[in-house]
Formats: sequence, C-alpha cells, structure tokens
Amino acid sequence: MQILLGQTLTFTDNPFRVPPAEAVRHERHGAVVVEAGRIVSVGPAEALRAAHPGAEVTDHGAALISPGFIDAHAHYPQTAIIASWGKRLIDWLNHYTFPEEARFADPAHAAEIAARYFDLTLANGTTTTVSYCTIHPESVEAYFAEAQRRGLRALGGKTCMDTNAPDDLRDTAQSAYDDSKRLLGRWHGVDRLGYVITPRFAPTSSREQLEGLGALWGEHPEVLMQTHLSEQHEEIAWVAELFPEARDYTDVYDRSGLLREGALMGHAIHLSRRERDRLREAGASLIHCPTSNTFIGSGLFDMDGLMREGQRVGLATDTGGGSSFSMLRTMAAAYEVAHLRGAVLHPAQLWWLATAGSAEALRLGDRIGTLAPGYEADLAVIDLASTPAIAQRAARAEALWEAVFPTIMMGDDRAILAAYAGGRRV
Ligand code: GUN
Ligand code: ZN
Repeated sequence: MQILLGQTLTFTDNPFRVPPAEAVRHERHGAVVVEAGRIVSVGPAEALRAAHPGAEVTDHGAALISPGFIDAHAHYPQTAIIASWGKRLIDWLNHYTFPEEARFADPAHAAEIAARYFDLTLANGTTTTVSYCTIHPESVEAYFAEAQRRGLRALGGKTCMDTNAPDDLRDTAQSAYDDSKRLLGRWHGVDRLGYVITPRFAPTSSREQLEGLGALWGEHPEVLMQTHLSEQHEEIAWVAELFPEARDYTDVYDRSGLLREGALMGHAIHLSRRERDRLREAGASLIHCPTSNTFIGSGLFDMDGLMREGQRVGLATDTGGGSSFSMLRTMAAAYEVAHLRGAVLHPAQLWWLATAGSAEALRLGDRIGTLAPGYEADLAVIDLASTPAIAQRAARAEALWEAVFPTIMMGDDRAILAAYAGGRRV
C-alpha cells in the first residue's frame, strides 16, 4: 500500500452540467491511497495517514495530484512528422503522413516509434492514449506490446484504407476485416488494452470496407470504433462526390453500421443540424482536436453549442496533425478556440475534458479519469509553478482555478513531475 501526498483534484460531476464549484473535489493537503494498482481512498492527508500507518509515503508537496490525462485521438505513427509545415489536410496526408506511415511495414521502425511515443506522452502526464496505428498489423503489435510493457491502459487499432491511398498503404475490404478481427481477438481485454475498429475516414475506404468493419463491430459491440468526420470543407465535398447516395458525411458511416454509442468521431467540426441531431441520438462521442484544427487550418469546433445540446465530447491532441503531445497545450487551444467562437470555457471544464470527460467519451468513465475508490491508479502529478512565468502568475492566485489556469495556458512537460500507471511510477 502507498500514500501519495499533494493537492488532490478530481471531479464528482460534469462542470458543463453543474456549476464548476459543485463539480470539483479539491483537497489542499490531500492524499491518494493506492493498492494493487487501484485507488483505495482519496481525502485529507492527515486522516488518511492515520488510517494507514504502515503505508509507504511519497510526498509530492504542493504539487497537484490529478487523474492522468486521457488523449482520446492520436496517431502514434505520426510522432516523427509532427510540426510539418505548410499543408492542409489532403496535401498534408499525401505529402507527409502517408510516406511516414509506409515505413511501419518494418516492425523495428514501429517498435522504435511506439517506445518514443509513450516516452513523450507519459512525460506529458498522459496515461491513456487512443491511437490509430497504420494499415500494417505490425504497427498494432508494436503499439500494444509497448503499452503492455509499461502497464498502461491504452486503446488503438489497425487503420483500414483500401482506396485513395498509395499502393503500399492499401489493404482490401476482406483483409481489413480479417486483420482487424484477428488483432481484436489477440489484444482486446489483454491486461488494460482495448482494441478500436479503425476505418481511417470515408475517402480512403470503399463501401465494402466500411460495411465489413460495420459488420465486425456488430459482432463485437464491446469495442470502440474510431474514424474522422467533417474536418475540412474540401474533404466534405470529396465525400459527397464519393458517396452520392448518402445524405451527408455522417450518413456515410451510419449506412455502414458505424454510428452508435462507442463511435469516436475525430474533429466533427463542420456539421449540419441533421448530423448533430443524429450523432447525439446515436450516442456517438465527438473528439475535439484543437491544436490540429488550427494547425492544419480546419476550423473552430463548436464546444459551447455541442455541450449545450448534450453531446458527448472528448479532448485530444491528434498527434501529429496536432502540434503537441501535451494535454495542457491542448486545453489551452480548446480555450482559445472556444473564445474565438464567443464562448469562455472555465478551467474546470478544460481539466474535466482532459480527464473524466474523455474517459466518459471512451466508455471508461467508471475506471479511469477520476480519483475515487476502485478507480485505476493512473495519475499525473503537476507542478503549478513549473517556469518563472507561470510561478509569478500563480503566486498572485487567490483561488484554486486561478492557480491552475496559468499552467493550463503556459504549461508543458516541465510541469509534469511524475506519472503513475496502475499505481506504478512510470
Ligand atoms: N483524416 C484522415 N486521416 C487523418 C489524419 O491522419 N490526421 C488528421 N488530422 N485527419 C485525418
Ligand atoms: Zn486523426
């Protein structure tokens, strides 16, 4: 048994639904008691130390102990091409992304990048990632093997593409189904790993491929499905040409059995009223990727409107279309994007999106993203004075969120003092 001391911060409710002060649980001198990978209790340090006199104590001082961050949409194979200059989505894919993804036919390259990716995400306090792999089954093996070695809760799947992609990056409808099914059987539910059925997006899948993956999802409703939806106008126009029978982009997935609870729709920026209603009715999760949406020039996600109408929303880096591995930087971008749309997100809402909110979007809200008894002990320990600029601003703070907001806006991996996965420091 171990006791971690620090300021503890977690959510008991959704701060988009109730006032932030009612949604947050904060202990200035708090403790998290951990045993066998799970949280046993959370509360005032003094009381918990007295209750567990034999426990090993780790004192994180004034640092904030938070649920580890959850990145609900990323592409680990794009780690080495992050921050590539000057292209919009389709050109960016063709020019930078596809050539790099082709290299993942080599298991050694896949293993090297998977290790590098988890080094970077953990250094940023991210304890759960949901990643696209490449079309190569080897890339899925590398991702899950590395996550398993580190004891992480991680999700991902083989990216499926059978059209409008280079020769060396295409599977077929049949092989995508077969490989996905085999990989799902091999990895889903092993330790803390979860398989995600992964058609890249409508332009790179034939109808047959989408329907095959829809059928696979029907056979395995327990897994998640991830894809991209309505990221850029050029992409949306292309989808309308490719699928004239569909009412809109959302309908392309709907017709193939790829729209229901457990669907993770990356980006979801330019949506019609009908699409929004249908997505909500289906219970899909919309994954906001703000650094990517500004970096690739995609547009401004309507967080305020979508939350008001009761959509399920997660937050993500979209590495390497996104320009950062950091969920702090991602929260800052979400704040800025909302502000450009005339809305002001409270720091508690941003933090919730990066922890409990993303967990709920992944249907994992009862296991991760919250500090409470029985939850998995995936934690990030955060220094709220990690640079001189942040420290001098935080020193003026009179309340919790005023102390946290400078780290949201200006923090990076220097703010992450430690990360724990399943109670083990990683
Ligand atoms: N749409 C299809 N593939 C991708 C990708 O790799 N990144 C982003 N941002 N959008 C996509
Ligand atoms: Zn993406």
